[in-house]
Amino acid sequence: MPYRTIIEPFRIHSVQSIDLTTEEQRTEALERAGYNLFGLHADEVIIDLLTDSGTGAMSSEQWAGMMRGDESYAGSRSFYRFEEVVKQITGFSEVIPTHQGRAAERILFSVMVDEGDIVPNNTHFDTTRANVEYRGGAAVDLVIEEGRDPGTVLPFKGNMDVAALRATIEEAGADRVPLVMVTVTNNSGGGQPVSMENLRAVRAVCDEFELPLFLDACRFAENAWFIKQREEGYADRAPRDIAREMFSLADGCTMSAKKDGLSNIGGFLAMNDRTLADEARNLLILTEGFPTYGGLAGYDLEAVATGLQEVLEEDYLRYRIRSTAYLAEKISAAGVPIVQPPGGHAVYIDAAAMLPHIPPHEYPAQALAVELFRTGGVRGVEIGTVMFGKPDPDGGPDEPAAMELVRLAIPRRTYTQSHIDYVAEVVIDVAADAEEIRGYRMVEQAPWLRHFTARFEGV
Ligand code: F0G
Repeated sequence: MPYRTIIEPFRIHSVQSIDLTTEEQRTEALERAGYNLFGLHADEVIIDLLTDSGTGAMSSEQWAGMMRGDESYAGSRSFYRFEEVVKQITGFSEVIPTHQGRAAERILFSVMVDEGDIVPNNTHFDTTRANVEYRGGAAVDLVIEEGRDPGTVLPFKGNMDVAALRATIEEAGADRVPLVMVTVTNNSGGGQPVSMENLRAVRAVCDEFELPLFLDACRFAENAWFIKQREEGYADRAPRDIAREMFSLADGCTMSAKKDGLSNIGGFLAMNDRTLADEARNLLILTEGFPTYGGLAGYDLEAVATGLQEVLEEDYLRYRIRSTAYLAEKISAAGVPIVQPPGGHAVYIDAAAMLPHIPPHEYPAQALAVELFRTGGVRGVEIGTVMFGKPDPDGGPDEPAAMELVRLAIPRRTYTQSHIDYVAEVVIDVAADAEEIRGYRMVEQAPWLRHFTARFEGV
C-alpha cells in the first residue's frame, strides 16, 4: 500500500459493549479482590489487557467453520481437518489435540521428565515451569544476558544463551536432560523473538548431545514475522515458510491455540516420535479425551484449523505487530520505561525503573498494575516477583524475580486504535504520579502459581 497508515485488515461484524466503570467502583472491586486483578469481574474492566490468550475475536470464517463442526466422539471430520492443517504448518507427523497449551505441557512432561531432571528453556512460561517442577524436574531459564535487561535494544532478545545451554547440559549430564525447549516468542522475557540462527545453534547443541528439541510455539506466527522483518535472508519469504523452517529445526512442539491459533480455546502437542506420541495419547485419554478430540469440541477443532491459517496472512501479521509497537511508541515517547524493543503480543512496562522506591518484595509491578486499573480501568498483568519470585521458607522477603514488569497484552483483532490511545493516556497519567504509588504485602498464597489467587494488602 502506498500509504503510511497500517489499517486493521478487517471490519467489525459483531460488537460487545463495554461498561464504563467509575474509579469509585473500581476501588471497591480492588478491595473485594484482595488487590489481585485475576479476582475482578471482567465487567469491572474497561480495557482488558490481562492476556492475549483466548481473548481475541474470531473471523466469520472461523464461526462458519464451527457450524460445520463434526462432534463424533471418534474419528471426527473436524479432527482430520485440524490434523492436516497442523501437519502442513509444522511438518510434525503426530498431532495430539489438547484443550489448551498447559495440557500439552503436562502430558509431554509426564512422559519425558523424571525427578531430578533438568529442562532448559530460553524462559519458561509460568505454567510450563510449574508443570516441569510438578514432575520433580528443574526448569532452567537460559535466555541471553541482554534478554534480562529491559533497556537493551536487540532484534532477537528472546534468544537462548547457547554457551550456557551447553554448560548446563555438560554439568548435569545429558542423561538428566530429557529435552530442551525454546519458547517463541519469549513471553515471560518480554514477548521477544528468537532468531532462526539461534534456533539452528540450539539444534546443533541438541544434536551433539542427542537431545530432543521442542518449541513452545504459542506465538510462532509472530516470531516468524519478526524473523521476516529482522533477520537477514528472510525479507522475501512468506511467514508460512519461515514458520515451517522454525518447526523443521525441532522434534516437536507444545501449542496454545488461544494465541496464534486465533481461537478462544484449544491447543496441541505435536512431534515426530511415534512411540512417544502413543504414550502421550494414552495419558490424553485418561484426562483430556479420545485422541481425535483431546478435550475439545469438534467445532473448536474447526476454529483452530482456520485460525492457524489466518494467523499466517501477511496483512494480519503486519497490522498485529504494528499495533503493538504503536502503543509502545506512544508511552515510551512520554518517558514511560518499557522493555525495548516492544514484543509481538504485548508491551511490558518496566515497573522497577518506574517505581524505584518500591523494593521487589513489596511487588512494584503488582502496585503499578493495581494503579492502572484503579485509574483507568485498564487491566494488565504483573510479571515480576509475584509471578516468578520465590517465597522464603523462613518467612523472610521473597527471592525477587529477574524483572518487575507489567504486561499489557493485546488481544488479537479486538481493540481499535482509540482503545489503545485511551490506554496510553491512562499509563502516562499514572506514570506522572509514580512516586505516590505504594507497595503491597502478600497475605495469602497457594503453593503453585500463586499469582492467580494470592491476596494483598497495601503496605
Ligand atoms: N506457553 C506460553 C509461552 C504461554 O504464553 C502460555 C500461556 C502457555 C504456554 C500456556 O498456554 O494458557 O493455553 O494453557 N500464556 C497465557 C498468557 C496464559 O497470558 O500469556 P495455555
